Amino acid sequence: MIKITNLNKYYKNGDSELHALKNINLKVEKGEFIAIMGSSGSGKSTFMNILGCLDKDFQGIYVLDTINVEKIVEEKISRIRNQKIGFVFQAFNLLQNLTALENVELPLIYSGIKSKERIEIATNILEKVGLEKRLHHRPNELSGGQKQRVAIARAVVNEPAIILADEPTGNLDSSSEEEIMKLFIELNEKGATVIIVSHEPEIAKYCKRIIVFKDGEIISDGEPN
Ligand SMILES: Nc1ncnc2c1ncn2[C@@H]1O[C@H](COP(=O)(O)OP(=O)(O)O)[C@@H](O)[C@H]1O
Ligand SMILES: [Mg+2]
Repeated sequence: MIKITNLNKYYKNGDSELHALKNINLKVEKGEFIAIMGSSGSGKSTFMNILGCLDKDFQGIYVLDTINVEKIVEEKISRIRNQKIGFVFQAFNLLQNLTALENVELPLIYSGIKSKERIEIATNILEKVGLEKRLHHRPNELSGGQKQRVAIARAVVNEPAIILADEPTGNLDSSSEEEIMKLFIELNEKGATVIIVSHEPEIAKYCKRIIVFKDGEIISDGEPN
């Protein structure tokens, strides 16, 4: 599903250059549940942004489902992102002036689905994440855990094959964290490939494969011990 070969990423700041990802090689099969760990600044978010096709400015080869991401034009990338990938961020990234329902409808708008069906699908998925009573609330009227559930509903409403989550529970208390992890486990059991960045060791117990980054390199990759 994902094959990455000799991936390097540099950030250029004026004259200086930061080598943020160093010769990364990785294969991910369909249906895997992976945790990416490593200390702050080790390159996890940089890597996730590339996986999520949010950043195409890298060296190396990234093949996603037979598509060579590097070679593909921008309009096509947005379509692939919208249909194949669900992205969940630590800071939720919901639109503040839209209700929970409207936030979840957004990816469906981009997919060209008509209003009536959109509302049906979005309502359905918000029910699944336990927010049936919060459909018309705006983000500032929701708790952190509820906001993240809206964000997850939005990420999965197009039934993406891959779910990428960058420290999705970083802003949550431990009971919301457990709820959110259960949602990811359910999605994985239904067939989605799930990749989660976290620096919390508790997350590891939910995953079958743990990849550890250090200074832009993968220093270990395997089952949790
Ligand atoms: N947009 C950027 N411009 C320049 N340097 C960046 C940028 N984003 C991240 N970095 C640097 O790249 C390295 C990896 O950052 P990041 O991928 O955010 O790490 P992590 O998510 O593991 O904390 C860090 O040294 C960080 O300062
Ligand atoms: Mg990060």
